[in-house]
Amino acid sequence: MEALNDKQRASDDLLYRALLSEARKVFKACRVELPGALYHMPSPRIYNTLFSWDSGFHAVIMSHVELSLAQAELETLFGQVAADGHLPHESLLPGAPKEAWMRRVMADYSRREYDGDGVSHLVDPPVAIIAAERVFEAGRDAEWLSRIWPRMRSCLGYLLERRDDFGDGLVSIRHPWEAGTDLSPQFYEALGIDQRRRSHAIKSLLAAPLLYRYCGKRGWDTDKMSRHRFAFEDLTMNSIVIRACRSMSALAAALGSVKEAVYYDAAARRLMAALEAICWDETDEIYYPRFDLSRPRLARVKTAASLLPLFTGLCDDGRAEALVHRHLLEPSEFATEFVLPFVAHDELAGARPWVERRLWAGHCIWINFNWMVTLGLYEHGFAEPADELARRTCRLVADAGFWEYYDSRSGKGRRTPGFTWPGLALDLAARLRARVPQPEPLG
Ligand code: GLC
Repeated sequence: MEALNDKQRASDDLLYRALLSEARKVFKACRVELPGALYHMPSPRIYNTLFSWDSGFHAVIMSHVELSLAQAELETLFGQVAADGHLPHESLLPGAPKEAWMRRVMADYSRREYDGDGVSHLVDPPVAIIAAERVFEAGRDAEWLSRIWPRMRSCLGYLLERRDDFGDGLVSIRHPWEAGTDLSPQFYEALGIDQRRRSHAIKSLLAAPLLYRYCGKRGWDTDKMSRHRFAFEDLTMNSIVIRACRSMSALAAALGSVKEAVYYDAAARRLMAALEAICWDETDEIYYPRFDLSRPRLARVKTAASLLPLFTGLCDDGRAEALVHRHLLEPSEFATEFVLPFVAHDELAGARPWVERRLWAGHCIWINFNWMVTLGLYEHGFAEPADELARRTCRLVADAGFWEYYDSRSGKGRRTPGFTWPGLALDLAARLRARVPQPEPLG
């Protein structure tokens, strides 16, 4: 057993070093330094601006590479909080690198997303708040935290207070891109898309700009959109909001604000109770998102977002057990040859080939989900599946390199090389490496 532990430790250490060296290279190529701003582009080739949840992931990764870069990225990001309190999904900063050709095409396709200053009307899941807790833990820099604190408070407040479209406590998104999981099959029914129909290839391309048109016509005014066509109680958004409330509570305590610590802790528990009541499906024993203001119903498609309530750390014990044993470890769903597929394997039966060319729709592994689900597993006490998922994630990234996403059938990188998110594997490798081996059980 001891020899096995030594071997395992050496191999975890090797993985950590390989990932650290690759992360250094990739992030150097993606770094943007402007007067008073520093951030990383997710990829210089097609995503050469400041993206909100991306920067949250970057800060977690940079906390292992150079803490001052993590601090600067979060300060730049929270500097973008808009007057109504929303933290934009994307900001086009003046002086930033020129638009890549593909982005120029995209910018035209999605021009209604931005106001006159290049600030997106959309939001992202507030990963940056969770990242701020990480960065604070690593440096205990209270001055830095105090500088970003008021804006962290505004952007979470905006989501909690102005996005409760169903009036049940959960946060609603008004556009699929607000979940960060663009064409996740969980959105198909709400968007009127059928993945088995060839003719829907075009519909899947037009869905986003048509929704912009709808929102743009209402001036992106929250109050005018109370009967929104696409009101969606998304699991990625809500799980991350709940986890962010817990981070705010911990950080408020560190800043000595007991009242705020209690407030955010209560908010996390209130939202989690709503999520348990609304999104759990007793028959399938899994969480589903809910949509449609006039006829609210669950979108019964399994994706890794259905496992994400684990990331809140507040899941009901029995339900967490069902998520792991009935779904995560089930070969026909999420326990495929390469893990973790974003779309459960059995949900792709009969899908047309166009599905593979849409982001988040086909046989795809996105490392940010591997990271969040792994941390959720650890927090809920599933150490063994967590270690397994962490190691397989690290090996996948170390073998294939840093890509936008990976094919869950072959483990090959897809779409964009030199993409930043796979650096999250470094955070998992750091955990594996720091682990003190457990003594062998007696008898
Ligand atoms: C893609 C992803 C989105 C991300 C953006 C920039 O659109 O779906 O989540 O924020 O790229 O990386």
